[in-house]
Amino acid sequence: KAPLRLAIAGLGTVGAGVLRLLTENRDLIEARAGRAIAVTAVSARDRSRDRGVDLSAYAWHDDMAELAARDDIDVVVELVGGADGPALALARQALGAGKGFVTANKAMIAHHGQELAQAAEEHGAALRFEAAVAGGIPVLKGVREGAAANAIDRVYGILNGTCNYILTAMESTGADFGETLAEAQAKGFAEADPAFDIDGVDAAHKLAILAALSFGAEIDFGSVEIEGIRRVCAADIAQADALGYVVRLIGVADIEQSENGPRLLQRVRPCLVAKDHPLAPIDGPTNAVVAEGNFSGRLLFQGAGAGDGPTASAVVADLIDLARGDTGAPFSVPAAQLVAMPKADSGARESR
Ligand code: HSE
Repeated sequence: KAPLRLAIAGLGTVGAGVLRLLTENRDLIEARAGRAIAVTAVSARDRSRDRGVDLSAYAWHDDMAELAARDDIDVVVELVGGADGPALALARQALGAGKGFVTANKAMIAHHGQELAQAAEEHGAALRFEAAVAGGIPVLKGVREGAAANAIDRVYGILNGTCNYILTAMESTGADFGETLAEAQAKGFAEADPAFDIDGVDAAHKLAILAALSFGAEIDFGSVEIEGIRRVCAADIAQADALGYVVRLIGVADIEQSENGPRLLQRVRPCLVAKDHPLAPIDGPTNAVVAEGNFSGRLLFQGAGAGDGPTASAVVADLIDLARGDTGAPFSVPAAQLVAMPKADSGARESR
């Protein structure tokens, strides 16, 4: 069988991780995919940077828009990031040309996932974004495939590893927020500009995607109520502890029955979690998601929500799906059938 030919846009830590994974696990990936998965072309900003991987076999493009135009590419892998701009242009181009598109870009999917899914369906192309939600945890596959027969009316979890690291470190050291954030940055957990993480926007992007997939509802990032962890102080954590709780940044989405029918409620905020709840022991830069299915019962997905290895693992799992010919809708139903649900009247506050 002919190999699945890839172009990779973005060779940061995740892109380099994907190249390493495709090389190191080549034989088992080929056996499971039923064909080879071969990189043909790559694009990144800085050609001279040492990424610890040999790029000599791949065609190099300084302009990533060129990737979608190549005839010898079946799938474009986008690891650049950003809700709009070049990543979105590349997605539209690749899907419009009938190519598969695999991305780890949660901001883009949270804002434009519906349009892109529709474009994919119109052009008979496959769109996948497992790595966009909870990094290495196969939670979208778990909900879309494993729990496919269930009505899910609630999904929630710890969706930002940086916040979870900070909150659990504050818990164990008694230190305050600012000090712990500085330490997280020094250890490389938080970004140098950590606003998307600590203000809850990153978790909200993931929650909006997860909710759409779980409920078959249109993606609605704009209605997520968002509060981050900047104002959590050492005294809050000590008080929670005395009452039998821990503080975690939780994203929750559920369907509320109102007089006017079902409403979608989505919020990200610091929550008190009882110490005997399965999310309480999740510490460090870990993610965990709970989905409640009406036949499966409570499902708990837990693992690394970021990092080159785990994120590459999710990206390559999507590529294996495409190599196998699973080109079905990325959500639980085709994009045109996602239901527009009335929302609570709250506006998302996006800090930039
Ligand atoms: N900054 C994110 C986190 C990484 O801390 O969870 C993956 O989205």
